[in-house]
Amino acid sequence: MMGVGKAVAHSNIALAKYWGKADAVRNLTAVPSLSLTLAALRTVTTVRFDDSLGADELSLGGAIVSGRPLSRVSKLLDNVRAQAGVTARARVESVNDFPTAAGLASSASGFAALAMAATRAAGLELPLTQVSALARAGSASAARSLYGGYVSLGARAESAERVAAGADFPLEMLVAVTVSGEKETASTDGMGHTQGTSPYYAAWLLAAPAIYQQVYAAVLARDFDALGPAVEQSALAMHASMLAARPALIYFAPGTLRVMERVRAFRKSGGRAYFTMDAGPHVKVLVEPSAAAELELELGKLEGVTQVLRSTAGPDAYWVEP
Ligand code: PMV
Repeated sequence: MMGVGKAVAHSNIALAKYWGKADAVRNLTAVPSLSLTLAALRTVTTVRFDDSLGADELSLGGAIVSGRPLSRVSKLLDNVRAQAGVTARARVESVNDFPTAAGLASSASGFAALAMAATRAAGLELPLTQVSALARAGSASAARSLYGGYVSLGARAESAERVAAGADFPLEMLVAVTVSGEKETASTDGMGHTQGTSPYYAAWLLAAPAIYQQVYAAVLARDFDALGPAVEQSALAMHASMLAARPALIYFAPGTLRVMERVRAFRKSGGRAYFTMDAGPHVKVLVEPSAAAELELELGKLEGVTQVLRSTAGPDAYWVEP
């Protein structure tokens, strides 16, 4: 068996966040989430099943990787092998075309591209929704990266769904990459720790679905003034639950706060932009296309910001010729 598949998937940033699992074994999320897929952050992955291999192999950006990342990849491949009746091990090569050294989350586009490439390599012809379910088992946020534009993943949902195309509600996202001295806690570990120790986790579970509903309705209505405040509340309520964990999970760096302050000042002077942040110190800013260039320049000047990436909405994941 020598099946090959190659695929491209774009990363996504949640506008309504999920944080916490309803079922850790099946990797089902505790609350619903809704994201925007980003054109500028891409992963390209090739999977080659090969009978001569004794074990799965993984290279990320040209470097051979083992340990936890490899076992997460093997787990997804095992699901694909079981569905396709394949026994061969695989060689997986994955490349991000955005700076991974910057610590930007790559698991969303990574597991989405892996699920696409692996199903093709195994000869499976699955609808996108089933590929999304395979990706979700590897990394819940990856379920959303199978689709372009605005995408939702329900609480306990197996797979993600498109809410609106990017062109239906054209917004841009600026990613302000900030300096951080601390080693970040992996999201799965951070969630488990928050669920286990934060007295605010219960409050987060109560608040998140209502915030998600506001985000969802605002996307359907193409209403940026309703969307923005809900996006900021989603991120800050999630971080509040992390901050109350013991010991606290603090992803904020000095540059993180400077970007937030700048975005708020931008609004005070009549601009329209709203921030969000994930399990890392970088800040993502949702902005109207007409204001994106100006704000990109301003954020780039801030102390503690090393680089600003700018992106429009990205497309569905797709296969390419290996
Ligand atoms: O599913 P993971 O392990 O990539 O974790 C994603 C967690 C957040 O990015 C903070 C929230 C989200 O909904 O993407």
